[in-house]
Amino acid sequence: MASKIAFLPGDGVGPEVANAAKKVLDAAAKKHELSLEYADCFFGGAAIDAMGDPFPAETKEACLSADAIFLGAIGGPKWDGAKKRPEAGLLEMRKALGVFANLRPVSVAPGMEQLSPLREERAKGVDLLIVRELTGGLYFGERTEGYDLATDQCLYTKDEVTRVARIAFEAAKKRGGRVASVDKANVLATSRLWRSAVKELHEAEYKDVELTHVLVDAMAMKLIQAPAEFDVILTENLFGDILSDEASVLSGSIGLAPSASLGEGPRGLYEPIHGSAPDIAGQGKANPAGAIMSAAMLLRYSLGESAAADNIEAAVSKALASGRGTGDIGGEDDTASFTDAVVELI
Ligand code: NAD
Ligand code: IPM
Ligand code: MN
Repeated sequence: MASKIAFLPGDGVGPEVANAAKKVLDAAAKKHELSLEYADCFFGGAAIDAMGDPFPAETKEACLSADAIFLGAIGGPKWDGAKKRPEAGLLEMRKALGVFANLRPVSVAPGMEQLSPLREERAKGVDLLIVRELTGGLYFGERTEGYDLATDQCLYTKDEVTRVARIAFEAAKKRGGRVASVDKANVLATSRLWRSAVKELHEAEYKDVELTHVLVDAMAMKLIQAPAEFDVILTENLFGDILSDEASVLSGSIGLAPSASLGEGPRGLYEPIHGSAPDIAGQGKANPAGAIMSAAMLLRYSLGESAAADNIEAAVSKALASGRGTGDIGGEDDTASFTDAVVELI
């Protein structure tokens, strides 16, 4: 039976990188004899334009009945004044899918240190997995918005912290065995709850994993000063958003960074971590590697096709190692020629 993928290109460079990822998925499907079926859906600004809602009911239904959801990127200045912005549609989708754990890996492969803005000795050996809580915190608290006063509530329950912490500890067991939990426990009540819930789970079930607690401001510094010291970084929604954009640059460009958002079951949402990049949209300049690696994560986590996922990741690494790449990493490719190079290697 074919695996169903809800395919949401979105806005700006979203369709450019999503179509690149689809080309690579199709090449991998052919090679590994997988049957993939796509349901094309309106989402984000494109859905506001076509249907008046960034997350229309049809799209929601397609996502909920799919095995996995692939998203390009959404948003842009065109919809800044919209009553319901494209970004609000994305939050609604994450909540509707129950994808509370957002995995954002960032690494510098041996020999690829020259792409990093850091000195070679600092970039060497970077291999991070950021586990970002995705359906709680400031993003989902009550908001009030007036002319001269506005509020955003930050709320976490212990269960919300424990379930995402479990994902981080399990991931650490399969990697370097270390979790750095990031919070602002010297100021915020939600961070003190975060820290105590993480400690409690660690004590009860994961004593074999090394756990440290780092304040978020210090982590922002350490990510630049000594990024190779870290293995899994566990943090709440907003801190994870900010730290993952920062961390992505260690590898050379935000355009290289993939993500998987997972919940209780195998169904997941896969998207590069970057946005719609309005400054380069429509010019064929977007780096599709993050989207392509997100497609690999889709095959691994939602479809259980790890051989095909390994193949895609190896092809991207090989293409980059041979000097192929888009302008953001100093290469001469455009989106299409880099994608073709990856397809060729599959
Ligand atoms: P952005 O990530 O779109 O762009 C930041 C910078 O990175 C820009 O200079 C851009 O050119 C560059 N960049 C991003 N992706 C790239 C790629 N694939 N290749 C090469 N360079 C790339 O962030 P922004 O400009 O702050 O936001 C633009 C819009 O995207 C906003 O509406 C924002 O809300 C939205 N956004 C959406 C998502 C998403 O869909 N998941 C994520 C982040 C931002
Ligand atoms: C991301 C984006 C989103 C977020 C926005 C577009 C809502 O920045 O996926 O990182 O903040 O989660
Ligand atoms: Mn972000």
